[in-house]
Formats: sequence, C-alpha cells, structure tokens
Amino acid sequence: MKKCYKCGLKGVVYLPQYRIAFCKEHYLEWYSRRVEETIKEFHMFTRESRVLVAVSGGKDSLSLWDVLYRLGYKADGLYIDLGIGEYSERSRIVCERFAQTRGLELHVLSLGEAIATIPEIKRLEKRPPCSFCGQLKRYYMNRFAKEKGYSILATGHNLDDESATLFSNLLAWNMDYLARQFPLLPEGKGFVRRVKPLFKLSEKENALYAFLGGIEYVEEECPFAEGASSIGYKKVLSQLEEESPGTKLRFYMDFLRRLHPLLKAQEVELRHCSICGEPTTGEVCSLCRLRERLSSKTLSSSPSS
Ligand code: AMP
Ligand code: FES
Ligand code: ZN
Ligand code: ZN
Repeated sequence: MKKCYKCGLKGVVYLPQYRIAFCKEHYLEWYSRRVEETIKEFHMFTRESRVLVAVSGGKDSLSLWDVLYRLGYKADGLYIDLGIGEYSERSRIVCERFAQTRGLELHVLSLGEAIATIPEIKRLEKRPPCSFCGQLKRYYMNRFAKEKGYSILATGHNLDDESATLFSNLLAWNMDYLARQFPLLPEGKGFVRRVKPLFKLSEKENALYAFLGGIEYVEEECPFAEGASSIGYKKVLSQLEEESPGTKLRFYMDFLRRLHPLLKAQEVELRHCSICGEPTTGEVCSLCRLRERLSSKTLSSSPSS
C-alpha cells in the first residue's frame, strides 16, 4: 500500500482511478469533500434547506445521512418499512440505532399500514416485486416529504447504480428516460426536489466510508433483488472498471457533459389524481389503481365472498 497522499502516513485505502492512497482520517475527509463539492456544483441544497434523506439501512444511504450530518446540513431520515420479513425488521433497527446514537430524527413509514406489504402485493401482482416496489417507494417518499414540509428529498444512489441505469437506458435508446437521468430533478408539478449527492461515488467508496467511519449497516440485499437486470449491467461495468479504472465515472460524467444537454425530456402533462391528489398522467394514478386491484382481488379471494 502506498503512503497517504495527504500526510505521508501508511495508507489504508487505495483509489485506483486516481492512483492515490489515503490514511483513514484523510479518506473520510476526501469523501466528505467530494459530497460537498457535488452538492455545490449541482446547486442541490444549502445549509438552510430542510432535507429528507431516504434511508434503506444499507451502506450508501446511511453514509449519505452521516456525511450530511457531519457537514452541518439539516437532514432528517425516512425509512419505509416494506414488510419483507426479517430483512425489513433488521434494516429498521439499524436505521433507528443510527439516528439514536447521533440524536437525529428518523421517520418510519409502514407500507403495510399505508397500502400493503411487498410480500402481500407480490401474491396478487404478476410483475416482479422490484418494479412495483420502486414505484411505491418513490410515491411515498415524495408524498411524505411534501406533507412534512421538506423541500429536498435525497437518496443514496451511487455511481454503480447510476452508470448501470445509464447503460440500460442507452441499450434500449430510451430517450425520454435518458433526458430525465440527472443528479437533480427540480421541484414542481407536485414533486419535491430530488437529489443524488453520492452519484460520483462508487459502491466500494461508500462501503469504505461506512466501514472506516464506524457505521453499522445491513449488508444483505433484499431477498427479491436476485435476478434483477441491473445486477448484470453492474457486473459488465465493474469488469470494464477493473481493466481501466475510472471508466464508470468517465462514462457517466461524459454523458452529463456531452449528451444530456442535447436531450429534451418530452413534456408530459401532469394532473392531480382524482383519488389521492398526487401527480399523474391519467385520471387516477398508478398507486391508486394498484390499491383498487388489491382490494378487488382480496375481496374475490376471501372465503366469504
Ligand atoms: P435501491 O432502489 O434499493 O437501490 O435504493 C436506492 C435509494 O433509495 C437508497 O439509496 C435509499 O436512499 C432509497 N431507499 C431504498 N430503500 C428504501 C427504504 N426502504 N426506505 C427509504 N429509502 C429507501
Ligand atoms: Fe423492493 Fe426488494 S427492495 S422488492
Ligand atoms: Zn493521511
Ligand atoms: Zn392516486
């Protein structure tokens, strides 16, 4: 291991794409600076903003909450309990402990109480859980942030997530999704501002921050994640990264710099869902339609009907 780039002591972390090593203290400092620079570069929020960090209990979102807290931002947490057995239980406990030890406020929203748990919906829907789960999370994160007066919703999406999504959108030439792929989505039309302050940091870099910073997090993946197409894209990109360090970051940053400015998102007309009032393209939003399907299926399958 090389010596720390900053102080010359023995390095504990080596970052191949920059060809530099850091000791523990200077790695944590480098990471924080990187997040702070990203927040400023994209005008994500200021120290006066009320930020809601969506935390899953994993390394990325807890590292994000930790670094925002250390940098002096006003950030509370939101954990959505998806009701996926022990996995959700463990994740909630980890988030609660994280908040308690730092004196931070954590909100917990139970999906089971709001609509139904993921395993309950899975029994009635034919789609893979990840598709409706993502939709539900986005809906409740946005709605919760608005109701509680947060102007910013921050998620822990990292460079691996974002470059894999970019890769899949490019393979499908999904122009509309490409146009909307950006680390900041502005507020308006029923949405709060959504930001991804970790998009320049890889999964490994976040794991190192969590490990060296003494953050306890849930390592196991959601039991329904197996077979998700994003895993394959991540594998391909990681192989390229290994052969040529820095590929993922270059791929993503060059997209933002060169291609994104040429793309224009199709203007979709949004209105308020006639049932819940949330933004939607149709008369009734997809979540309220899911709710209707769930109640009709539950009724038709109940023994008394
Ligand atoms: P994922 O879609 O699981 O890759 O997660 C992406 C981001 O969504 C995470 O970094 C979190 O910020 C947020 N997130 C995922 N799961 C939850 C959850 N159960 N509760 C709150 N936020 C979540
Ligand atoms: Fe949503 Fe796994 S986290 S289905
Ligand atoms: Zn050092
Ligand atoms: Zn609705």
